[in-house]
Amino acid sequence: MPVVDIHTHIYPPSYVSLLRSRTTVPYVRTFEDAPDSSRLIILPGEDDPSTPSTSRGRPIGAEYYDIAQKIAFMDQHKIDKSVISLANPWLDFLPKEEAGEAAKKLNDDVNDICAGYPGRLYAFATLPLSADTATIVSEIERLKGLKYVRGVIMGTSGLGKGLDDTELDPVYAALEKTQQMIFLHPHYGLPTSVYGPRGNEYGHVLPLALGFPLETTIAVSRMLLSGVWDRFQKLNVLLAHSGGTLPFLAGRLESCVKHDGHLKKAGKTENRRDVWDILKTNIYLDAVIYSDVGLKAAVDASGADRLMFGTDHPFFPPLEEDAEEWHSVNANYTAISSAFAGNDRAAQDVLGNNAIRILGLD
Ligand code: URA
Ligand code: ZN
Repeated sequence: MPVVDIHTHIYPPSYVSLLRSRTTVPYVRTFEDAPDSSRLIILPGEDDPSTPSTSRGRPIGAEYYDIAQKIAFMDQHKIDKSVISLANPWLDFLPKEEAGEAAKKLNDDVNDICAGYPGRLYAFATLPLSADTATIVSEIERLKGLKYVRGVIMGTSGLGKGLDDTELDPVYAALEKTQQMIFLHPHYGLPTSVYGPRGNEYGHVLPLALGFPLETTIAVSRMLLSGVWDRFQKLNVLLAHSGGTLPFLAGRLESCVKHDGHLKKAGKTENRRDVWDILKTNIYLDAVIYSDVGLKAAVDASGADRLMFGTDHPFFPPLEEDAEEWHSVNANYTAISSAFAGNDRAAQDVLGNNAIRILGLD
């Protein structure tokens, strides 16, 4: 029975070179007090000068860019196939005139990386979202011809105004028409003020554990409220981290819609597809939630046939120097065994069969 990892990242060497050439977030650099260790600084606020330089961002080693290390990690954790994606912040920060060519080069690089391991690697490509819409649409159409590409990874900023921006309609139309999945992944989190003046004392815990999932939840709720899935009924979106908190909050979201006087007056509470319909028709969820509690909410909301195993490699490595297996990966394996105790068939589907069917893998 195959195991497929659909949430696993890489920064191809050409992207790392780009980050090394930069001096503002996102960038890769060494600091005077540790000249032999490069650090990857990507998240907003992560290079705050009040943080000691050796705690800024995270150390970046070859596991971030060397595909041989990805394959070794897959072998070690019994993963047969991976659908690799560029990690955040993708190409969001590029000037408009550079984005189109950069996306082509990067997507070709990633497709070539997959070609080196036939049957083992596939990819979600990256869109040049800072370019004009015509450039984005033409890249979506070009991606259809790349053998290993199965969709696109995307953050929540869209063209700069979020995913409820109607100017994204041509992009959604092209993705729907070419039947490419959007893998919606957080990056920007919440404003750091919500973590309070002591936020820096807690490392990355609040932004990663809570900021990321809430960012995803808000982005997908805005898509829903703006009627994206009423206009694009076949647009498929895979939500990172088991949907952020959407499975848990879907009932509250729906209730707030039904009780909103402003929406009622505007005629927007009738003749709309509700969140439960979209969760079971357009949304897919990864199983990167590290506990059976969250996983069961995901299953209840979307169904075990729409849930797919993931690792988030190379993020969340074990902190012990001598650790062999990754706790983060084993937590996701254990959550699946526990949520589907007594139903091996459903567990196997989540571990691999669903991904093969949904993404059309060999
Ligand atoms: N941190 C990130 O910046 N991205 C991920 O995908 C996971 C952790
Ligand atoms: Zn991720």
